[in-house]
Amino acid sequence: MNLKLNHPVAFVPTMGALHAGHESLIRIAKSLENEVVVSIFVNPLQFENPDDFTNYPKTLEVDTKVAEKSGATFVWAPIFEEIYPSDPEIISAGAIGNLFEGVHRFGHFDGVLTVVKRLFDLVQPKFAVFGEKDFQQLFLIKEMVQRLQLPIEIIAAPTVREPNGVAMSSRNSRLSVTERDQASGIYSALKVAAEVKEIDRARAILAKDLHSIPGFLLDYAEIIDEDTFELATDTTVNSRAIVAGWINGLRLLDNIAMSNKVTTK
Ligand code: PAF
Repeated sequence: MNLKLNHPVAFVPTMGALHAGHESLIRIAKSLENEVVVSIFVNPLQFENPDDFTNYPKTLEVDTKVAEKSGATFVWAPIFEEIYPSDPEIISAGAIGNLFEGVHRFGHFDGVLTVVKRLFDLVQPKFAVFGEKDFQQLFLIKEMVQRLQLPIEIIAAPTVREPNGVAMSSRNSRLSVTERDQASGIYSALKVAAEVKEIDRARAILAKDLHSIPGFLLDYAEIIDEDTFELATDTTVNSRAIVAGWINGLRLLDNIAMSNKVTTK
């Protein structure tokens, strides 16, 4: 398959159900190149739960308008056979792919890397923009690009939040008003922890605050070194608190850079 694009391209891969977070990724892409490709493809390989795949919101018509309004010059919604004409070569996310999100979502990051590599091969972008909200995904994509020596610059975009602090996600549309309110406690807890300089105290405060959010079932809360994804040993490395959990069966992720981190990069 040959896409007729005006290279160089800035690329924003998505699974649709576009929200303000995606709009900001597209605007960032537009600031980098005039030709901005937005792909909309719900990738079955990254869903470990078939119901989640089936229920994933599909709003192509609205998405196309939103993408174009934000600066996309090419909105591409490939069908399954265009992405996977034959059995794809599965890209392994390695050991880090089995941590945190990977513990409960077995094979998820292999699925993400496999589709991102396919999309990169087809679009051949100069830049590709991904949100910091999915921090482990961002880390693994950067790592893959380095490992495979792809000539693509990965741009990390800051998380866009709802007015109450909840990180934007396509799945948020499934939260009730009360649940949205409960979800806002996650970012409040992260902000408090980010200011704590001593790492064990920061971890303890974060866990305590998250456990006290009504209706929130904590999966993990950790402080990691952004450059290695290993557990951080102090808050002065490039450290970041990462959190995931459930509200009424809906998975929520968030993260924050620790304030004490060294910001030389
Ligand atoms: O973050 C997403 O929306 C997806 O994981 C991605 C990167 C588009 C791959 O399907």
